[in-house]
Amino acid sequence: MSNNNGNNNGNKDSNNTGSNIGGKGKMVTITIDDKKYEVPEGTRLLWAALENGVYIPHLCGIEEEEKPSAGCRLCFVEIEGFLNPTTSCTQPVKEGMIVRTRSKRIDRMVKNAFELLLSNHRLNCGKCAANGSCELQKIAKERGLKLRVSRMRKLDIEAPVDDSPENFSYDPAKCVLCGRCVWVDHNVAKVGAIGLVRRGMGRKVAAFGETTLAESNCTQCGECVQACPVGALAMKK
Ligand code: SF4
Ligand code: SF4
Ligand code: FES
Repeated sequence: MSNNNGNNNGNKDSNNTGSNIGGKGKMVTITIDDKKYEVPEGTRLLWAALENGVYIPHLCGIEEEEKPSAGCRLCFVEIEGFLNPTTSCTQPVKEGMIVRTRSKRIDRMVKNAFELLLSNHRLNCGKCAANGSCELQKIAKERGLKLRVSRMRKLDIEAPVDDSPENFSYDPAKCVLCGRCVWVDHNVAKVGAIGLVRRGMGRKVAAFGETTLAESNCTQCGECVQACPVGALAMKK
């Protein structure tokens, strides 16, 4: 998984490779924020935008994934002719498509989704391994959002850190449940050590049987750490 986050600032966003679902053959012209772009027909809009330097907030999107979960609700855009905003990670581009990445409605939706994520996140950037390369920090900067929870109840997150692997650790209190680590574990590393378990507020990434990673079949290859957009999976110093 290579890095392509729209403005190449060395961000920890690592899930956007050059491939596309419709990335072969015909090119189509789309307009994003009044500017025209030639992109491969069928490419999903999020990746077409990022490929052309247009940043759209995103956490859960995986370019190679055939059926995106669209769980983070951060990548909304307005498309002319569509009644409601749509998630750009699920929307294939079409000839003549006219897209707006910002509007009052979009900004409100992104702000709400962002605050919801932060309400279940232990913010301590100064002591965090992802400080300076974190996708949450990037979204806050790009969209002028505050990295604090103002309107929603801050939740207490009790789950312990798993620092059983030799070189990295997993902190559930920093996890935004984007699922990227699970996807690379299953599809890139092809190990199948971890999954998203439980429902509701207890949802987290865990090894089978919720053992520590060291006790599981995790090979400690580190692919999941590279895929994590925040400081939940982090290399030990
Ligand atoms: S994951 Fe990102 S937002 Fe959260 S504490 Fe670490 S640097 Fe800050
Ligand atoms: S550990 Fe990181 S990559 Fe895995 S679900 Fe949590 S935030 Fe996403
Ligand atoms: S990246 Fe589209 S919903 Fe998360």
